[in-house]
Amino acid sequence: MTTTEDLTTSLRTILDKYDTSRDNLIPLLQEIQEHLDYLAPEAISMAAEHLDLSENDVYGVATFYAQFRFHPPGRHRIKICQGTACHVRGGGMVLDAISRKIGIVPGETTPDGNISLERVACFGSCALPPVMVVDDTVYGRMTPRKSEKLIEELE
Ligand code: FES
Repeated sequence: MTTTEDLTTSLRTILDKYDTSRDNLIPLLQEIQEHLDYLAPEAISMAAEHLDLSENDVYGVATFYAQFRFHPPGRHRIKICQGTACHVRGGGMVLDAISRKIGIVPGETTPDGNISLERVACFGSCALPPVMVVDDTVYGRMTPRKSEKLIEELE
């Protein structure tokens, strides 16, 4: 298990790669998320201090981008494409169906830590819309019903 001290040390190593220009905020948050899998409160606070911003400023920017997560991902990660090709073929309905079924909105994880839900802009599999990715497996031509069945198999 990662201790607070380990976390601080690893965050410090990442921060030290960036100078204190505010233009570094997004790349810095991306690298932190790549390392931790989400933006922990400690990470927000250290990034804010490093760039001389308030924590509110950092949250304000980070929440604007769908790519950032503020909670640890679940054991299963569901990503549903909302890029143009998928959107016009019903990606929004698939997302709504899953969201209703598991009771969370994109960016959240179920309270039991089993499933997290993410909205993604494009997986590069636009020939198979709408596309859904469960952990590392890509499923194309989804419908709300097919996506719900996949979720049932996870539970
Ligand atoms: S738009 Fe969905 S995979 Fe490209």
